[in-house]
Amino acid sequence: MPEFDGQVVVVTGAGSGIGQETARLFGQEGAVVVAVDITHEKVQQTVGLVIDAGGHAWAVACDIADPAQVKRLMDHVVGEYGRLDVLINNAGIIMPGFIEDIEDDEWRRVVDVNLSGVFYCTKYALPELKRRRGAIVNLASMNGLVGQMKNPAYSATKGGVIAMTRSLAIDVAPFGVRVNAVCPAGVLTPLLQEWFQQQPHPDVMREYTDLSHMLGRTATPREIANLILFLASPRSSFITGQAIPIEGGATLGYGVGPKPEWAVGGFERTQGEKDNG
Ligand SMILES: NC(=O)c1ccc[n+]([C@@H]2O[C@H](COP(=O)([O-])OP(=O)(O)OC[C@H]3O[C@@H](n4cnc5c(N)ncnc54)[C@H](O)[C@@H]3O)[C@@H](O)[C@H]2O)c1
Repeated sequence: MPEFDGQVVVVTGAGSGIGQETARLFGQEGAVVVAVDITHEKVQQTVGLVIDAGGHAWAVACDIADPAQVKRLMDHVVGEYGRLDVLINNAGIIMPGFIEDIEDDEWRRVVDVNLSGVFYCTKYALPELKRRRGAIVNLASMNGLVGQMKNPAYSATKGGVIAMTRSLAIDVAPFGVRVNAVCPAGVLTPLLQEWFQQQPHPDVMREYTDLSHMLGRTATPREIANLILFLASPRSSFITGQAIPIEGGATLGYGVGPKPEWAVGGFERTQGEKDNG
């Protein structure tokens, strides 16, 4: 029998990249996938992929940064299906740049989507998840664990998601609910491609990004979806409150040499380096 037969799984940001592949994989395992994205158009293709894979799908347009829309979404899910077993908090946006170049309203939007959105979805899904002894998987990022150049705003939201994951896991453990975060490095999706385009030298940055993973490439969405599915399934029944790196060796070793100056941008040698000539 498929692993998620008849279970109801909400995937936010299901219209693209990791969310779309995750939705498809849950469909393959017999789930009813509630495919959420900011517009209906964005999830139409996903619905087809889930059905082709053998699952059931429902497309829902919802801005996860709006608590009223999120509450309506979760009420509809429970009203329609009578259950909610798994929540995948995947939707996210990027906001690269030095902190002094990020506008206040850009900061608010990245926090609203990447951090508050996870809070709203979790808050309104939790009563039913407790009844079902369900699971939550949050999409964080390696940069929430180790930082990343020119990315403090986005990293702050992902660090917040990791901290929320750990604390929430404590509170909901008595109800049999598990909460984990996955922390990818580079994953080749429209989000990463958009980030390449925002860099001064997109092609060189693409190559540099590939090589900064010890495995010599970025991950595929499928590789991330496999971990998400594992964390949502009983196969990971003794794992909770963890932020799990999935990073192709990107954080290993000192041996890869200094970053080229164009990749760092605005880099100045530290005082110690200047003192040493
Ligand atoms: N791609 C990477 O290299 C990478 C690395 C680490 C973490 N992540 C995280 O993984 C998650 C998925 O990333 P991806 O690369 O698949 O991105 P993506 O841009 O391909 O897909 C994200 C989806 O989220 C949707 N979305 C954005 N704002 C929304 C909102 N307010 N309400 C509802 N939906 C919204 C978008 O419309 C889009 O369909 C994100 O949380 C991202 O931060 C990605």
